[in-house]
Amino acid sequence: MKLLFTFIVLAICSVSGRILKMVDDWWEYGHFYQIYPRSFKDGNGDGTGDLKGIIENLSYLKTIDVTGVWLSPIFKSPMKDTGYDISDFRNIDPIFGTLDDFEHLMARSRELDIKIILDFVPNHSSDQHEWFKKSCNPNDPDFEKYKDFYVWNNGKLLPDGTRSPPSNWLSVFTGSAWTWVESRQQYYYHQFLPAQPDLNFRNPAVHEEMKEILRYWLRKGVSGFRIDAVPHLYESEENADGVYDDEPLSGADRCEPDEYCYLNHIHTHDLNETFDLVYEWRRVLDEDEFSNQTRILMAEAYSPLELALRYYGRVENGEIVEYGAQMPFNFELMSNTWMETGSYGYIKYIETWLLNLPKGNGIHANWVLGNHDGSRLATRYKPSRTDLFNILLKTLPGITVTYYGEEIGMTDVLIPSGDKREVARTPMQWDSSQNAGFSSASLTWLPVADNFTECNVELQRNLDRSFLKNVIELGKLRRTKTLKYGGLQLAAVDEDVLVYKRQIAGDATADVIAVVLNLGTIDKYFDLTYYLSALPEKMTVSVVSIHSTTINPGDSVETNNLKVPSEVGIVLVGQNNSRYFM
Ligand code: GLC
Repeated sequence: MKLLFTFIVLAICSVSGRILKMVDDWWEYGHFYQIYPRSFKDGNGDGTGDLKGIIENLSYLKTIDVTGVWLSPIFKSPMKDTGYDISDFRNIDPIFGTLDDFEHLMARSRELDIKIILDFVPNHSSDQHEWFKKSCNPNDPDFEKYKDFYVWNNGKLLPDGTRSPPSNWLSVFTGSAWTWVESRQQYYYHQFLPAQPDLNFRNPAVHEEMKEILRYWLRKGVSGFRIDAVPHLYESEENADGVYDDEPLSGADRCEPDEYCYLNHIHTHDLNETFDLVYEWRRVLDEDEFSNQTRILMAEAYSPLELALRYYGRVENGEIVEYGAQMPFNFELMSNTWMETGSYGYIKYIETWLLNLPKGNGIHANWVLGNHDGSRLATRYKPSRTDLFNILLKTLPGITVTYYGEEIGMTDVLIPSGDKREVARTPMQWDSSQNAGFSSASLTWLPVADNFTECNVELQRNLDRSFLKNVIELGKLRRTKTLKYGGLQLAAVDEDVLVYKRQIAGDATADVIAVVLNLGTIDKYFDLTYYLSALPEKMTVSVVSIHSTTINPGDSVETNNLKVPSEVGIVLVGQNNSRYFM
């Protein structure tokens, strides 16, 4: 029977490295938290979140043991893509505050020892950026300097004298990726909105400009950057006809001709040059001037696994010879839902990522379950499964990233008009007062969820058991040697039940930690020792989903006779008797 079960043992290769190194760097095994600044906390009463609000509430993140905060863009922007269209990379948008406010935020973050990571959006600027305005206008005195800052092309001249775009390339947000500019009599390229012209990384001046922007913020003390839209940074060069080769059709079902999925993006996604560019930025972060702390890169790359892993660094003979991002985001558990894959499939995604990590110093896995571009976890999986996924996120080996509000189980809010991604961007629910304590304004930029009186930080902080209390407990557990350095053994009991343990062989001072996740809607009885080796007979419940009434925190359970209620996740802690990892 046993052969039927997926059974994997992964020795985490960093264990011996850590023992030699003795001290972990600040970001290793960290817990990162994504703040969507418009929605975290409004400090000036205008209905939109801002830097003052973040400063006021930063200490809250200490309670959930956050290592570093990634702020979605706070830079000057016309807000066509809520800040991902930047018109001044060196300044703060007035809706968020001023550069002085930013200095205060840095000071507060130092007091609390929470690192600040900025969103770096290098693929494009806003069409309101002065570079683009100059690039559009041949009469501008700086035209020569900015002429090639963006991707310009004459397009195809048709027999009837009219023009058509230089290729069939499509924008991620639908429609042609080319827009005509009268003043320049050329098309420019934009992977996203027409208001987000792509910068031209085939121009060395653009490289230098963007590197100076990184240095500017590094000098202000930021600890790193999340790089936006990485796979889109380069596109193929012009062909012999002076235009661009078309992309082939993807053949994907249910894709209209103007939708991004209609084409196979061989000329515009994950080009080889892109990886080198990420390594180039890493060299900037590693410059002597910034060596008072390690600065890190997170890379947003929705790419196939083998490509996503290349963002860690350039590998030769199985070892990294040139480093890139410390955290190429691992979206595998977000893009593939457990419901679709079943436990066996989910295990495969976890295992594949871990087993394929490149070898090098400071290489860690990371896990992402949500962000501002998708639906919230509690909506995707049901609010009752919130704990289960928070447990999963916090107990796998490596680094975790939490999207604001997931720790209290916030849900999507239907917004009838506007960007469909806004469902997951509504104001943080702090307490039961007006606007969930987010803002004193009469109107907030997006509506507050109706459930805010039952789902908010203050309430959950005061309950004996709550999603937040569980996350706080998980934060403490993450500090243990076992969750940092322990090996991982995974098994599927059936399609709905996933179990794993973290253990350091031969170390009696490090408890063994077992995790049991029952996604299904019926209770399950089984012998956990059948699936996980070397477990003690009795283990103590450290964290358990709040709706479990039969298994409660602090209970002692027999590992060979476990009853796991439906949709419940459990973290068990016990004495580590194992001399060998098996
Ligand atoms: C990234 C961001 C997304 C934005 C896009 C264009 O995917 O996460 O919100 O719209 O890049 O900048």
